[in-house]
Amino acid sequence: MADIKKVACLGAGTIGSSWAVYFLSKGLQVKIQDIDKNQIEIAKNKVTSFLNSIVGQGIISAEEMQTALKRASFTTSIAEAVEDAEFIQESALERYDIKQKVLEEVDAAAPGTAVFASSSSGLLVSRLQAFSKFPERVLVGHPFNPPHLIPLVEIVRGNAGDSSVQVAWEFYRQIGKVPIVINKEVPGHVANRIQAAVWREAIDLVVNGVCSVNDVDAAVCNGPGLRWALMGPNMIFNLGGGDNGMEGFLGQFTAPFESWWADMAAWNQFPQGSQRALIEGLKEEIGDRNTGDIVRWRDEKLIGLLKLRDLL
Ligand SMILES: NC(=O)c1ccc[n+]([C@@H]2O[C@H](COP(=O)([O-])OP(=O)(O)OC[C@H]3O[C@@H](n4cnc5c(N)ncnc54)[C@H](O)[C@@H]3O)[C@@H](O)[C@H]2O)c1
Repeated sequence: MADIKKVACLGAGTIGSSWAVYFLSKGLQVKIQDIDKNQIEIAKNKVTSFLNSIVGQGIISAEEMQTALKRASFTTSIAEAVEDAEFIQESALERYDIKQKVLEEVDAAAPGTAVFASSSSGLLVSRLQAFSKFPERVLVGHPFNPPHLIPLVEIVRGNAGDSSVQVAWEFYRQIGKVPIVINKEVPGHVANRIQAAVWREAIDLVVNGVCSVNDVDAAVCNGPGLRWALMGPNMIFNLGGGDNGMEGFLGQFTAPFESWWADMAAWNQFPQGSQRALIEGLKEEIGDRNTGDIVRWRDEKLIGLLKLRDLL
């Protein structure tokens, strides 16, 4: 069993700071590193403000926040951040040359036993592994934004050793994440590909005048989206088949789905005018709310959902 207490967070931007807050809230010692001194100052404020927000949301107490802050340290040096790390979560800029530089510094300074998990949303794990002298300990541990709230972590194994995958899976599980293992690398991993497929169809419906932006979004979050917060499409359609499960569903719905797929969007570049249509269409949905209002509303409801699902 992974018994990890010391974590290094490399890169302290949007994702790195949020990961750091999650690890701190789970009682871990966290060394937070960024190459940029200014970013370190911003990250200190972000960590405090994210921790404050989860105190406000009842996820940790004010006392726990104070002890969490004592377990955090900040540095611009990768060597200092990883020297005694048991797990390394890297969230530096999404560029191969930067990940390469980080991996080379980690190789030189980190204990050989520490797993290196990159938050990368889109880089190929096999290329990241090729940058390291220890490819077996390198994998992708891709979170969803913000990692301090969303449970999913996609572990992309590539050429990582079985024991590294096992350690990462157990570690994420122990701290309350929901890890999945992706056995074969594909651009966009799993969840983003699913989002991209849904989004393409949503855009196409708008561009073709089938529905407004507001109504497409309403269709998702008041219909399938409510079920998607509880179960995936396979289980949903299994239930759609009643007592006959998936076999019953396929018996009834194979032909309709195939006719819908035949009619659905298959483009891979935004159609002309589609981006403008989204920007204009969103104005109706946004109304007189500002982004801060919408984010606060989303996070409050999200926390309610996570509590309902026993994920907090
Ligand atoms: N933003 C998202 O929604 C999201 C979601 C999931 C995963 N990710 C992934 O997380 C990673 C970080 O994304 P982000 O959105 O936090 O980016 P960001 O630009 O907010 O932060 C990146 C940080 O990396 C730092 N950095 C640059 N070079 C560095 C180096 N050599 N060593 C250490 N730090 C360095 C930068 O100073 C910056 O603070 C990317 O790989 C991205 O694909 C992003």
